[in-house]
Formats: sequence, C-alpha cells, structure tokens
Amino acid sequence: MDEIRELIQAAAATARKETSEEPEPAFTGSVAYPVDCSVDRGLAGAIAADTKIGYVNGSKGWLIYRGYDVFDLSEHSTFEETSFLLLNGHLPTSAELAAFEEKLRSYSQLPPSVIQVLREMPINETHPMSALRTAVSFLGNWDPTADTTTVEAETEVAIRLIAQIPLLVGAIARLRHGKDPVDPKPNHTLAQGLLYAMNGEEPDAKTARVMDVALILHADHGMNASTFTTMVVNSSLSDMYGSIVAGIASLKGPLHGGANEQVLYTLEEIGNPDNVEAWFTKAREQKRKVMGFGHRVYKAYDPRARILGPLAAKLTSADPEMKALYETAIRLEKAVTEGLGTEKKIFPNVDFYSGIVYRAMGIETAIFTPIFAASRISGWTARALEYLGDNRIFRPRAVYTGPTSVDYVPMSER
Ligand code: ACO
Repeated sequence: MDEIRELIQAAAATARKETSEEPEPAFTGSVAYPVDCSVDRGLAGAIAADTKIGYVNGSKGWLIYRGYDVFDLSEHSTFEETSFLLLNGHLPTSAELAAFEEKLRSYSQLPPSVIQVLREMPINETHPMSALRTAVSFLGNWDPTADTTTVEAETEVAIRLIAQIPLLVGAIARLRHGKDPVDPKPNHTLAQGLLYAMNGEEPDAKTARVMDVALILHADHGMNASTFTTMVVNSSLSDMYGSIVAGIASLKGPLHGGANEQVLYTLEEIGNPDNVEAWFTKAREQKRKVMGFGHRVYKAYDPRARILGPLAAKLTSADPEMKALYETAIRLEKAVTEGLGTEKKIFPNVDFYSGIVYRAMGIETAIFTPIFAASRISGWTARALEYLGDNRIFRPRAVYTGPTSVDYVPMSER
C-alpha cells in the first residue's frame, strides 16, 4: 500500500508547508470557569466543555486526536487502533489492541430481530440514515444494560456500536436493493467488514486500505453538531443508544454529514467540467450554498480534504466517467475558492471529496452519510464518555425577544 502512504505523506507535507502564521486560537489550555467568550448565532464561539480527545485548529488547518496529527494516524494507524486511542487516550500495546479487537469481534453478530425491523420498514423509500437511527434505537431496546449510565456500562455499549454500525450500514445498503444481509467474517477488520457487509464480496487490499483511511479521517472533529447533540442527550443521563440515535439524526442533515451525498448530486447536476463556471455563476445569483464547501471552524484548507482529494484523483483516473466527475469537482473547487474563498475563506471540507472516493469504490450515494456514521461513532462515544466522567447537564439559555405582559384575551373576543 505504498502508493497510499506516499499520497498521505505528500498531503501532510503540503499542509505543513502552507500552514498559516495565524495565532493559536484561545482556549487550548486549562481554563477556570466561568469563561469569558463572545457567542454568536449557532453558538459560534461558545465553549461547551474541556476535552483531551481532539483538537481542530481552524486557522492552521490542524486536526489532532489525543495529541496525534491525523496525517500520521492516516499513514500509520488503523480504524480499530484510532478508535481505541479516542476512547482510552493512548495508543494500545499489542495486547491491548488484540483484546479490543476480540471485544469488537464478540459483537460481530447482529440480532436477527434488528434485520427483521429493517425488512419491515419501507426500506427503499427511507433515507438510510433514518433506517440506521431506528436500528440503533432497536438495539438499545433489547440491551438490558442500556439504562445503566455508568462510564463502564456505556463504554461497553460504545464498543458494541463501533462493531455493529458498519454491519447495520451494510445490511441497509443491501436490503434497499432486495438483497439479503451477509454473515460477517471473523477475520475482517472494521473497514473490510463494512465493505463486505455492503457488497457481499471480499474487498481487495487497496479498497480496504482506502476505506480504513476514510474511517480514520472521519472519526472525530471537535464540537461539531452531531457530537454536541450526542453529548447533550447523554448529559441528561439518558442512555448511550438514545444519545447515538440523536447524533445520527444530526449527522444526516445536509449542512453537516449529509453534505457528502449532496456533493455528488451537485456534481451530477453540473454534468461535465465545462459546465462548472456557468453553474457556479447561477448558484451565486440564486444565493445557493455550494455543498462540500465552508466550515464553521476551518478558515484554512481542511486537512481531511487534503488526503481525500488526491485519493479521489487516484481512484478515478482509470475510468473516463469517474475522471470527468473528478475533473468537475476540481473545476468547482477552483471556481468556489477563487469566487468566494478569498473574501470568505471558504475551502473544500471533508465532504467534498469523500463522496467521489466512495463512488469510485462502487458505493451508492445514499450510503455515504451512513459510512460517515460508522466512523464518527468512535468520536461521539469517546466524547460522551469523557463528559459523563464529570457530568453536568447541558442547559444554555435563549435570548427572549417576545413581549412579557400581554393580557389574556377570551376566545369570544379574539
Ligand atoms: N457556499 C456558499 N456560501 C457559503 C458556504 C457555501 N458552502 N459556506 C459558507 N458560506 C457563506 C455564508 O453564507 C456566509 O456568508 P455571509 O457572510 O454573506 O452571511 C459566509 O460564507 C460565512 O459562513 P460561516 O459563518 O462560516 O458559515 P456557518 O458556520 O454558519 O456554516 C456550514 C458552516 C454549515 C458548514 C456552511 O459553510 C455550509 O452550509 N456549507 C455547505 C454544507 C456543507 O458542506 N456542510 C458540511 C460541513 S463539514 C461537516 O459537517 C462534516
């Protein structure tokens, strides 16, 4: 897999060369509460928690999990090891990794009843993310430990969901097309298992490695909407299944994880590379958001897109149709970054190239966001568990802008 390693090294070298001289944002060390900060709409700037799990430096384009640069993890790690790191705070020894993988394997059978639930819904008319949230909720209903809200019990649920969400995604992908789910193979990694669960075919080593890199890149990303949603639900001492159901619902939205599928629909709407400029001019006139661009935190190039872009180039080069799709994306990146980027600091985000990578693997567009969930489950659970260790229920306030002393008007006088 030297070619993928070289590609990641080149992406890291570019990122490190281009890193801006902008100062570190505040709040990267210990703080004493209450914290002075300015908060904007959408809670922009608000500090929700202390964390040791991950750090996004949006002005420098850094993404760090537990101190490790995501470029290094993509090059050297696996999704299993990265998940262990996020949950436990250190890279595993070989014995710890073997035990973690054994535990994941112990959860590698889905209960038949959850497949039955998927069969009974109108699965090809239901968004796969909606099917996934129902399935995760159902798993919780059959787990007698679900309401034990200790860190220990919820860690067990986290590991179960890291093992089983890929299997659910695969089952949903197959059932949508009238195909039966396949039995998982005990020797598969999570990335191989996800591909096998979707396709029912043994994945080749390169495809499995690309999927592994994609899972590592999507595993954690600060206080994004779905992570925060998961933490908010968990902070009421609800239950981990419910918290993850809420995270899945949040990730589905097109302003968040759902953007990866919207990017593909946009590229298909544009049709071919020569249509990009006209399409973009019209999109600007219509004040349309261009999916896969912009970010609340990154005002520099997203490090995940630095890897996924070149991966998309590599995977599409042999097929004329896929190559045209990739070239359309490249032209769109140029149009957007030149047209909007300089004034608004808008760059491609993680979702811009991930869909092309998945499409090149033969995965249907509607399954892109569920794949994101199969990865982000590690970050969701790691952060919810970290917060649970020193829990205080989340409870912000709203600025009330309505009247306060309206006289009640009886129905007959309205
Ligand atoms: N296309 C066009 N204009 C954009 C885009 C875009 N993709 N993104 C931001 N802008 C504009 C905003 O309209 C805003 O313009 P204004 O100053 O005239 O009001 C300006 O750029 C600044 O926007 P932000 O305040 O940085 O955006 P915000 O933090 O509110 O939203 C978001 C971030 C939701 C990601 C936004 O950029 C967006 O809608 N992007 C498209 C959807 C997308 O790709 N989402 C995936 C994000 S990554 C993830 O969640 C996994």
